[in-house]
Formats: sequence, C-alpha cells, structure tokens
Amino acid sequence: MTVRVPAKVNLQLAVGPPRADGYHDLVNVFHAVSLFDEVTASAAGSATGSATGSGTGGSGVTVEVTGESAGEVPLDEDNLAVRAARALARHAGRPPGVRLVIRKAIPVAGGMAGGSADAAAALVACDRLWGLGLPAARLMDIGAELGSDVPFALLGGTAVGTGRGERLSPLPDAGPFHWVFALAGGGLSTPAVYAECDRLRAAAGQDPGEPAISTALVAALAAGDARALGAALANDLEPAALALRPSLAGVLAAGREHGALGALVSGSGPTCAFLAGSAGRAKSLAAALRAAGVCRAAVTAAGPVPGATVVSGG
Ligand code: C5P
Repeated sequence: MTVRVPAKVNLQLAVGPPRADGYHDLVNVFHAVSLFDEVTASAAGSATGSATGSGTGGSGVTVEVTGESAGEVPLDEDNLAVRAARALARHAGRPPGVRLVIRKAIPVAGGMAGGSADAAAALVACDRLWGLGLPAARLMDIGAELGSDVPFALLGGTAVGTGRGERLSPLPDAGPFHWVFALAGGGLSTPAVYAECDRLRAAAGQDPGEPAISTALVAALAAGDARALGAALANDLEPAALALRPSLAGVLAAGREHGALGALVSGSGPTCAFLAGSAGRAKSLAAALRAAGVCRAAVTAAGPVPGATVVSGG
C-alpha cells in the first residue's frame, strides 16, 4: 500500500501570543505543493529493499527511510510516521504490526511539514492495509494529536487553519501557482523558531494581538492573481528564522532580484519559497538561484495539489 503526500508552504502565518499550553494561536494559510514523499506500508516481516537507514520504531513497527536527507530522519519513536501507525492501531484496538518504507523528497526540518506529511501518509496507508476504512474526519482527529500540520497533509489543496493550525477550512483557490523552493543545508527546530519569535517580540515590546486572515491574500487566491498573491505573502516567523539563520536574508534577496513575485521563509524555515508567474519563470528562477550559489538545491513545484493519496496497492 503506497501513499503519496505533498509538502506545504504557508502563504500566511499569523502567530498570536504564547498560550498556557506552550502553543500559539495561529491563522495559518496552508497550500499543498507538488513536492511529494511516498510511504509504503506492508505486512510486518515482509521482504526488505535497499535503504539508507532502518530501525525498529517500537513494538511491531519497522521503518526504513530513503531519499532527500534520509540520514537526518529519526528511526525510533521520534519518527512521526511510526507514531502515526501506533496511534492508529491504538484507536482501532489492534496490534500495530507494519513495515513502513518512506521515500523522501520533502526537506527534513525544512518548514515544509515533511514529518507531518509522512504521518498523514502512514495513517492512510495503515488504514487501508489493515482494512479499517475509518472516515477521513476520524483520521484527521488522530492526525491532530500527532502534530498541528498533520490534518492539512491529509486534506491538501489550500486551506486556513486556526487554533494550533489543526482546525481547517478549505479556501477557494484559482491556481495553479508556480513555486521555487530554495533548500538549505541543515534544518531549523520549530520550537526554537517559535521561542525566538516570542523573544524578539518581548524585546521590542510588541503585543501581537489576535491573528487575523489577510483579505488581500484571500482575494488574490480566489482570483488566481499571482502578482497580488506574491505581494500578500506573509510569515510572522520569518524574523525569528532570519535571526537564527542570517544567511536566509541573502537567499530571499537573490530570489527577489531574479524576478520572484513574492518571497518568504516557508513556515519555521529554513526553506525559502518564491512565487513565479509561470512554470517557465519558476524554472529559470530556480536556475538563477543555483547559479547564485545561495542554497543547497532549488526545486520547482506547483500548487494546489491533493492531500495524502493512495497511488498503488489500494
Ligand atoms: O504541533 P507540532 O508538534 O507540529 O508543533 C511543533 C512545535 O511548534 C510545538 O512544540 C511548539 O513549540 C510549536 N508550535 C506552536 N504553536 C503552534 C504550532 C506549533 O508554538 N500553533
């Protein structure tokens, strides 16, 4: 059972003050893009393929990871796909026997929800493998317990998330929109970026207030207006990501210089996202970023795309 699952970029990430539970209330406009991981679930004990790394993620669940920065993905209980399989088995009242193989293209700790994507894919794959047939809403509830971005990886498209980001409403979107992602060497820790955001605001005496959705962004999405969308992109975590990784300022500047309609840090970073006016312009912008030597890799993608989808074995 193989499930394909997209990365996300945050078109708007408005962050409120820290809550008592350590999270922040968000207005989080998610957009799923055509950069995919694949998760294959098979019966525990089935034949092994070649793998960059493998491990046993707790009783009855084994995991192998191949592809983009596979060596940086944890193979123990910290692996979100392993936790997803175990959580689903618990909810279904069955033993969690499964072998997971994750093929990564989404950058690890890159601000594109790669770990959440793998968790979402594991939920869908194990639900099918085990013949559970749980409704999508139930998978979303289990996903929300695993991480704030997991429900969106199940849903896909373009949607606004409130609360921790897990309460989703789809947004009308006249895409496709064309993107370039500049991948960095080494990730950023999401909790560290949120903490730095709080610290910078406190030092500046800023009161963020309640996060609110940008009406300009919603209108640009509905109209399919890439230029207006580029101007409306906004990420409250960007100053914190730039403080922790100052070199990202040069990446954003290079993209703007080469004609991006909008440029921002994706989520908690360090991946930088650039909006282009067409697929061709995205390709030439990616080439210009590579030539400028400001990033480890530059990849193109389009959005919106569907959430976690069974591609074989279903
Ligand atoms: O929910 P998830 O495990 O993906 O969140 C990772 C970390 O990001 C949290 O531990 C928290 O530090 C931060 N976070 C936050 N507010 C949110 C979502 C995430 O502070 N709404």
